[in-house]
Amino acid sequence: MTAKVIDGKAFAAKVRAEVAEHVARLREENGLQPGLAVVLVGEDPASKVYVKNKHASTVEVGMASFEHRWDATISEADLLALIDQLNADPKVHGILVQLPLPGHLNSELVINRIDPAKDVDGFHISNVGLLGTGQKSMVPCTPLGCLMMLRDHHGKLAGLNAVVVGRSNIVGKPMAQLLLGDSCTVTIAHSRTKDLAEVCKRADILVAAVGRPEMITGDMVRPGATVIDVGINRIERDGKAKLVGDVHYESAAAVAGAITPVPGGVGPMTIACLLANTLTACCRANGLAEPEGLTA
Ligand code: GUN
Repeated sequence: MTAKVIDGKAFAAKVRAEVAEHVARLREENGLQPGLAVVLVGEDPASKVYVKNKHASTVEVGMASFEHRWDATISEADLLALIDQLNADPKVHGILVQLPLPGHLNSELVINRIDPAKDVDGFHISNVGLLGTGQKSMVPCTPLGCLMMLRDHHGKLAGLNAVVVGRSNIVGKPMAQLLLGDSCTVTIAHSRTKDLAEVCKRADILVAAVGRPEMITGDMVRPGATVIDVGINRIERDGKAKLVGDVHYESAAAVAGAITPVPGGVGPMTIACLLANTLTACCRANGLAEPEGLTA
């Protein structure tokens, strides 16, 4: 069997086009423009690339983009004051503080200062709790993107065995909650799981988010399973720089029913979902109906 390749790049383009349509309608019918504020502290090169891409995508769908770039030496008090200011700004519907923050800043304190209704990353403790109890929340972008691709591929997910490999707060845990919300039977596995291959092999849906290059190999995949690869690992092979996922693509694709590639799978969905979350936040803030198909 050769797996169907789930094209995250094309899917993300479709999501961005839908968001853009909603944004145009909000402008015409309600005189509203969703706004996203992104806060970048310091000079981390990867973070600078992410923030640049976020800005370009935000503008492209017709939203307002507010960038706040601060020197790595900013004090915690000044950063918290900036967040208070963004919380109070009616033009700002979404706030994202790019992580990681420099070591002298307490990330949890900073993230939890964001108004939960504007927390488009879904990292605020209130949103984590709301998701965990099945209430309306802001959902982290990467797992939301994975959920959209899974729903698109399977239709209904109810009753399927889902195995999430990885237990991070950003991907593994919220992914498991979302799959549970769609009535999957969910197992969270991780680097210390006993008989990981055997656990993975039970999965109808296998989500790899461990951050270890090509750790999930074809022999760990149930024939016909859907494999979602969240990993982005930069490695060197044959003297060349290469981007690989947490899944060994070739061997897994030979067994799986469907699989996301790296690059071009989950990655592009993350920013598309950030825009979807900003749109959702704007609709909620103004008492308008939420965009269909763009939320959990
Ligand atoms: N750094 C890497 N990924 C992310 C993300 O999804 N959100 C934020 N805020 N920072 C990140």
